[in-house]
Amino acid sequence: MAILDKHGVIEKNVTLLSVFAFLVVTIGGLVEIAPLFWLENTIEDVDGMRPYTPLELAGRDVYIREGCYVCHSQMIRPMRDEVERYGHYSLAAESQYDHPFQWGSKRTGPDLARVGGRYSDEWHVDHLADPQSVVPESVMPKYGFLSHRSLEGTYIEDNMKVHAVVGVPYTDEMMENAQADFLAQADPDSDYDGLIERYGESVQVRNFDGEAGVSEMDALVAYLQMLGTLVDFSTFTPDASR
Ligand code: HEC
Repeated sequence: MAILDKHGVIEKNVTLLSVFAFLVVTIGGLVEIAPLFWLENTIEDVDGMRPYTPLELAGRDVYIREGCYVCHSQMIRPMRDEVERYGHYSLAAESQYDHPFQWGSKRTGPDLARVGGRYSDEWHVDHLADPQSVVPESVMPKYGFLSHRSLEGTYIEDNMKVHAVVGVPYTDEMMENAQADFLAQADPDSDYDGLIERYGESVQVRNFDGEAGVSEMDALVAYLQMLGTLVDFSTFTPDASR
């Protein structure tokens, strides 16, 4: 009973209660938050994850600039209806190189976390240019102008350097070859061996929009076609169940 009596004292004294509440919250906060400053990484490593190629990074910039995230999420939650519709739930590792992440908060359109490979490049180009031509009831705006905006990739090296500062493991070699790799990925007739060497076999090299030169449409479709394709879920097992 003695301890209960003492607790009664605290409960009846606002100042004492505030002091103890503050102490408890402070200790709890320190225990939870402080280790995060020393932990190298809180994200489980997953085979297949790699930083974006220069062309994909440029496409991601278009995605952000056009506000695609306002209508589309990139985050499949571990719930049955979502997994059945969109595929394996999203892993933390899948957005570890996203600065900022594109989880989104609203789904006017479908989740895009695993849209890569679901449609052909032509479908994407047609759909982006005129969504209602493929999905008549669509409320998605038209983005045909992206085909007429050409990209040289001159700024992409600087963009990668900024990402490297916040922890994306771009090597010096990747950054030095940024523009060459950028152009090579959209041109299957080019010498793209270096690009594959640097980023791996999962890189898709194609003329995404079917037109000569590199446009914002090429970059955006390259980005969309990569989404959710890097991790092989036929062999993936979460760390906890290993
Ligand atoms: C005003 C909301 C809105 C915006 C903004 C928007 N979309 Fe959509 N999007 C939709 C809707 C609704 C659908 C479903 C109907 C359809 O397929 O057009 C859709 C469908 C899609 C699909 C097909 C997904 C699937 O699994 O079938 C892709 C890919 C897509 N959008 C990409 C984009 C990209 C890239 C952008 C930015 C350039 C964008 N969307 C901007 C509303 C939007």
